[in-house]
Amino acid sequence: MRILSGVQSSGRLHIGNYYGAMRQFVQLQDQGEAYYFIANYHALNTVREPKLAQELTREAALTYLSLGLDPKKAVLFRQSDVKEVAELYWILGTVVPQSNLERATSYKDKVAQGISPDFGLFAYPVLMAADILLYSADAVPVGKDQIQHIEFARDWAVKFNTQYVPGYDPADPEGKERGHSPGLLKLPAAHIQESAATVPGIDGRKMSKSYGNTLELFGEEKDLKKRIMSIKTDSTPVEAPKPTTDAPLYDLLKLMLPASEFAEVDATWRAGGKGYGDYKKKLLEAFHTTFGPARQRRSELLADPGELERFLQDATLFTRAYTPVAQTEPAWRSLLTARW
Ligand code: TYM
Repeated sequence: MRILSGVQSSGRLHIGNYYGAMRQFVQLQDQGEAYYFIANYHALNTVREPKLAQELTREAALTYLSLGLDPKKAVLFRQSDVKEVAELYWILGTVVPQSNLERATSYKDKVAQGISPDFGLFAYPVLMAADILLYSADAVPVGKDQIQHIEFARDWAVKFNTQYVPGYDPADPEGKERGHSPGLLKLPAAHIQESAATVPGIDGRKMSKSYGNTLELFGEEKDLKKRIMSIKTDSTPVEAPKPTTDAPLYDLLKLMLPASEFAEVDATWRAGGKGYGDYKKKLLEAFHTTFGPARQRRSELLADPGELERFLQDATLFTRAYTPVAQTEPAWRSLLTARW
């Protein structure tokens, strides 16, 4: 099984990225051939200051390593280091219906927030599909907000194969039956962790860099505390049962506490006797317990910049050697070169 996924280097990573995606990255590196990247081309949609872009790319690499990505098990690379992705992006784009892009939720969300769209934002899902299809990925671990993108990637792969591969039958995409051919582009599947498909932010909406409602993985202690203390709650008094479990504080505790400890929280939440302030303190403690080791690892890496530098240099050099694209000419290139 080939696993592939990425995170954008468009800001500091947060616990939504971790529980929705990166926690699975680390688990899956033991279960298959894993490729993880830093989507630094995608990040250009929002971060255009070169120094900051570079810094955030490096920070994303550091985050991967601190969370337990093991470079001996998984290939870590920058999206821009494998330039074929930009080529496939274009070729694939020629069969992408504009109407699909117009109904992409990420695009519609940004436009609704008043962001005036550039071509890069509009075409974002095409580059993401190219990311996935380029590596013939089987499974793509992501949060729920990315499902539509992966469905697009599947749809466009089918369209592309139908257009270009004689004998391709969408009902038999692997070409198992006689007379059928397999596609040039393989259909990927989203891999979702249901319990953390959408991690709420401190205001109750989806946790997202663009909403400013995140709990950063490696933020400053003071800021973290302030943010946790400002998680949106109602004004139910301490002694009273809480009116609903449909609350970001409840969901975050459920994510971060071990099951037995969460059972206690759940009981008092329903029966009363504890206030939201108590639960917030508990969440802060759980945050430290959960991410303490990663923080420690991060400071060790930061304390030895030579070591980190060497690692990143190697990662860049080895990307071309290790990623499957580089080993053989991608089959879809034959479209362009075969008949000269
Ligand atoms: P990005 O950088 O926004 O987020 C990285 C991963 O974190 C997940 N995530 C969440 N999961 C649950 N709850 C949340 N509140 C939450 N916030 C973020 C995202 O679902 C994602 O899995 N387009 C991608 C990057 C990308 C990519 C790819 C991913 C580019 N090419 C190819 C997979 C395959 C993105 O913007 O992720």
